[in-house]
Amino acid sequence: MIGRLNHVAIAVPDIVAAAALYCSKFGAVVSAAVPQPEHGVTTVFVELPNTKIELIEPLGSASPIARFLEQHPAGGVHHLCYEVADLAEASRLLREQGLRLLGEPKIGAHGKPVVFLHPKDCLGTLIELEQA
Ligand code: CO
Repeated sequence: MIGRLNHVAIAVPDIVAAAALYCSKFGAVVSAAVPQPEHGVTTVFVELPNTKIELIEPLGSASPIARFLEQHPAGGVHHLCYEVADLAEASRLLREQGLRLLGEPKIGAHGKPVVFLHPKDCLGTLIELEQA
C-alpha cells in the first residue's frame, strides 16, 4: 500500500537558521520559507535526490507543533510522509485493521490530500500519508 518516502519533517525553533544549515553547510537546494497559516506552520522544503526534508517552524499561538518543540527545544524529527495512490482507500483499509487516523483526510501543505496516523499505532512515529 505505501509507496515512496515523500518527506521527513523536522520541527525547528528557527526556520531561517535551519534552512541555512541545509543550504550553506550541507549544500542542499532549499525553497523559500512559506507561511501556511491554515496549518499553523511555516515550511521550507529541502530537495534531496531521493526525497525531501520538510523543515517546519510554529506559526501562530495554536500551532500543532508548539508542544512538540516545548519538549524538543533544539528541534527534532516530527513525522514521516509516505505516498499512497488512493488516500480514501488507504484510510479505509487501515481503519479496518484497527489503526487510528487523526481526523479526516484534508488538503496538506503541498496541495494534495493527506491524513495522519496515530503514533501509538505506528511504533511511536507520527506518519503522514499523502496521495501521490
Ligand atoms: Co509533512
